[in-house]
Amino acid sequence: MKAVVLCGGGGTRVRPFTYTLAKHLLPVAGRPVVAFALEAIREAGIADVGIVVSPSVEGQFRDLLGDGERFGIEITYIVQPEPKGLAHAVLCAEGFVGDDPFLVYLGDNLLQGGVTGVVELFRSQGPAAVVTLRRVEDPRRFGVAVIEGGRLVRLVEKPKEPPSDLAIVGAYAFTPVVFQAAREVKPSFRGELELTDCLQWLIDHGYPVLPYEVDGWWQDVGRPEDLLVANRRLLAGIALRVEGEVDAGSTLEGPVVIEPGARVIGSRLVGPVVVGPGAVVEGSAVGPDVAVGAHAEVRGAEVEDSILMDEARVEGGTLRQSVVGRRARVRGRNAEAQLWLGDESSVEIAP
Ligand code: G1P
Repeated sequence: MKAVVLCGGGGTRVRPFTYTLAKHLLPVAGRPVVAFALEAIREAGIADVGIVVSPSVEGQFRDLLGDGERFGIEITYIVQPEPKGLAHAVLCAEGFVGDDPFLVYLGDNLLQGGVTGVVELFRSQGPAAVVTLRRVEDPRRFGVAVIEGGRLVRLVEKPKEPPSDLAIVGAYAFTPVVFQAAREVKPSFRGELELTDCLQWLIDHGYPVLPYEVDGWWQDVGRPEDLLVANRRLLAGIALRVEGEVDAGSTLEGPVVIEPGARVIGSRLVGPVVVGPGAVVEGSAVGPDVAVGAHAEVRGAEVEDSILMDEARVEGGTLRQSVVGRRARVRGRNAEAQLWLGDESSVEIAP
């Protein structure tokens, strides 16, 4: 079995961060969002992974993920020339997939339970497709499934009046018959070829499609605030690990990760907190729920519930619920702020 991770699309809803970095590569809990998908795929026993990317960001993916060795998988990059929808992205991967069954994972989705369950159901039952579902409070921004008598009967994309509370989660398993479906479905109301419509096509043509319901948390990174929710959820799973330096004037409480080459000086860290490789935290109070990127610097500041990306610098002031881009700089004096600050930006906060 192979896996295809869909990382196309412009990520317009996560601007300003996606002006300079693909949505799937934005960091949560110290790692790119898609790294968690790759790990879940490896855990499900799949090593042959195609990643579908937009042409403009292919280089970013290659730089950050390489050939996949670090994740224990082998990555093949597949370019989707235009963002014409998830089913179109799957069609772009047809040459890579060949005659094999395959898992499709939307690279901006994080699933607490991983994808082992969906893969096992597919392998044991041998249907044409398995679609992962989860009950949600407001299903209108998702694909929605209707189950009758234990059977999947209908799937609708982004319904204004949802026929159920079962949202389509971004993990599916398919046999190659889905390529025929993807060639036959018509663009949806949003002008895209939808995987949801492919599943409906399979059902309408008599192919067995099985639902797989999950109840652990599920987070898709569709908006900047989702980055912080995902960050909190993933940080909740970390354990104390100190590989960098912590001086005698500092205190660490709860689960804190200090990566190699990081330095913590005269500071109080309240976990969960991750301090990335080569980062410096000095004279500051950091946490809970903070991920400090590689080579970032926090000096004389308070930071809570935030993501500081690689090489960001925060000097003074208090930040809460903030996302600070790569090489961005915040200077503060007795002032508190909530910022979405894009890469290389600079801001001064004052009372
Ligand atoms: C896509 C799918 C939708 C699914 C969602 C999960 O939506 O089309 O069926 O529920 O992913 O994240 P999109 O993120 O493209 O709006």
